[in-house]
Amino acid sequence: MSDRSLLPGWAHRRVAGREQWASRIGFVMAAVGSAVGLGNLWRFPYEAATNGGAAFLVVNVVAVALIGLPAMLAEFVVGRRAQRNVVDAFREGGRAWATAGVLAAVTAFWIVSYYSVVGGWVVRYLFASPTGAYFAAPSSYFEAAAVGFDAVGYAAVFLVVTVVIVAMGIERGIELATKVMVPAILLLMVGLAAFAATLPGSGAGYAYFLEPDFGYIVDNAATLIPAAVGEVLFTLSLGAGIMITYASYVDETENLVADGAAIVVVNTLVGYLAGLIVFPLLFAQGVEPGSAGPGAIFVSIANAFRTLPAGELFGVVFYFVVLVAALSSAISLLEIPTAYFVDTTDVERPVVAAALGVGAFALAVPSALDQSLFGFFDSVASQVLLPTGLFLVTVFVGWVYGREAVAELGEGDGGTLSRAWHWYLRTVVFAAVGMTLLLSLASFAGVELL
Ligand code: PHE
Repeated sequence: MSDRSLLPGWAHRRVAGREQWASRIGFVMAAVGSAVGLGNLWRFPYEAATNGGAAFLVVNVVAVALIGLPAMLAEFVVGRRAQRNVVDAFREGGRAWATAGVLAAVTAFWIVSYYSVVGGWVVRYLFASPTGAYFAAPSSYFEAAAVGFDAVGYAAVFLVVTVVIVAMGIERGIELATKVMVPAILLLMVGLAAFAATLPGSGAGYAYFLEPDFGYIVDNAATLIPAAVGEVLFTLSLGAGIMITYASYVDETENLVADGAAIVVVNTLVGYLAGLIVFPLLFAQGVEPGSAGPGAIFVSIANAFRTLPAGELFGVVFYFVVLVAALSSAISLLEIPTAYFVDTTDVERPVVAAALGVGAFALAVPSALDQSLFGFFDSVASQVLLPTGLFLVTVFVGWVYGREAVAELGEGDGGTLSRAWHWYLRTVVFAAVGMTLLLSLASFAGVELL
């Protein structure tokens, strides 16, 4: 229970009976579960492939350290300080700020819709793997699977599982599920990477992924940097209220800096691990890494498995990992609006989760029936909603919370780094996220800024 109030106006009301994580590791696992998802397994290798391979990796490492971690800490501070859902957390800054919270909840709801469509593809591929149904014609199999009523049906299956876990609540649902899911993902991925290393021809994949061409970075900075920053926001689940909500179930004794660092490091390692699986597999099969799009891990990986001994088995393992990773992210997305209604209405959590699930399904239908609508949903999310959301968090923590934020971060780590972090947030992170937002909005609107 917390009754601290650092400044008189910021009354702290931990609502009696509100849920909390049962353990510190539970919080870390849930946050890792949210961060690790299609962003790491599909988007990261794909972005790396279209942005110079290892060159992208270098910029990505820098962006994770310089922007990802400090920004995640900002979201943690907002959530733990408020001990409330994202809308009420922002409301601490005044009524107008509640709009920023609504925007975050809408963003999460928006993303979970088309994310479920991809989740549905994964479900289908998992079911098809034991018989190798996609081996004969990987491209046309994907085209048939990606769009149409089947896609709608599989998205529904994916959403039902998501709703069930969210309905069970923080401790018994999300925490328990992710505590099993995350270690399973890590173990299976290490196994897959080891297997990929044994393939003849995999060496070219490592070279492509691990030997940076620094000239490429200099020549392509204008496109490389926004792409790398955008990928960092997406993969760390920043800008949609996720880390705010998850941190609202955290106790004030917890060291947020250490937890944030652990989450960022594990998420980054999983992205690299995905690269260590995907690139050797592609190069061993002579597949061009740049040939991507939404079909990347479906068409090219399916192609790779086709020619391997026991390809069916590897298909099962691979798509199982992807499915679990996607589920633990979808859970976090659905939890954001769920937490809002659970906090502010008398409706029971399972009913809220189910109703939102139905809504997300309705919103998913257009993406499942039309590829260009799918692309529209994804670009609105990654280029408009997420950067806007994170920019608002930065301003909120930097100027509205001000020194309150320094104290909040300091609570659990003695305050050593908090002051430097806050200064850094108001300068470097503010400028970098603001720039990314501008570049993203411009590219969304089709305007060339650079
Ligand atoms: N981080 C998740 C992934 O990598 C996706 C996500 C984005 C989840 C934004 C929540 C918010 O797949």
